[in-house]
Amino acid sequence: MACLQRCLFLSLLLHSILLNNYTVKCDDEEETLLKGINSYRASLKLAALTKNDKAECLAEQMADQFKDQPCTNTTGSNTVPGTEPQFSTYPKLLAKCHLNVTTTQEGAILPACVPKLDPSLVLSNFTKSQYSDYLNDTKYTGAGIGSEDNWIVVVLTTNTPKGSFMEDNSVGGLAKVGLICQWLLLAMNFLFML
Ligand SMILES: *[C@@H]1O[C@H](CO)[C@@H](O)[C@H](O)[C@H]1NC(C)=O
Ligand SMILES: *[C@@H]1O[C@H](CO)[C@@H](O)[C@H](O)[C@H]1NC(C)=O
Ligand SMILES: *[C@@H]1O[C@H](CO)[C@@H](O)[C@H](O)[C@H]1NC(C)=O
Repeated sequence: MACLQRCLFLSLLLHSILLNNYTVKCDDEEETLLKGINSYRASLKLAALTKNDKAECLAEQMADQFKDQPCTNTTGSNTVPGTEPQFSTYPKLLAKCHLNVTTTQEGAILPACVPKLDPSLVLSNFTKSQYSDYLNDTKYTGAGIGSEDNWIVVVLTTNTPKGSFMEDNSVGGLAKVGLICQWLLLAMNFLFML
């Protein structure tokens, strides 16, 4: 029994350390970019974009798809939006975030590739490229940002039903099953450590 408690404690400790390091590192670049975009919008007298968790989820999924592609002159903000490779997995990515095209079609997905995600280059890739046309548009009211390796993806949302990134309730049940499965797996993990 004492062993179980010790194992449990150590495992939880390890998890929280790993998780903390991970989120802190990732959030940094993303927070910096959102702040930068919002000061750009403030300079144009536009309202700040509010953080949208669903859009952030999709941005993370997209960044994950891009991450193995090297930065070239035709990747990232040099790509004309809409011409970047359309992932066959896109519907799956939406589903993973409990989203569907009904509420995402008016949003915008803006990927950029910047070696080591240099913060000032990242910001200018969004505010001083053709992406600025999106960022200075009053239509967009929210944003989610995700990054992997050299890739950073901004997903813009609107306050209209077609771009709201509202949770797709038709798959809500499945999501709950997924969560329960995760807990079961975690519990089994602990049992195996005995
Ligand atoms: C965007 O990032 C690339 C690096 O991938 C850099 O060479 C380029 O100058 C940046 N573009 C802008 C407009 O900042
Ligand atoms: C947004 O930026 C583009 C390009 O810089 C410019 O042509 C357009 O007039 C700007 N729109 C607004 C609403 O500021
Ligand atoms: C997408 O999600 C909305 C909001 O929950 C739902 O009303 C709609 O039926 C879904 N559409 C599809 C095609 O699944």
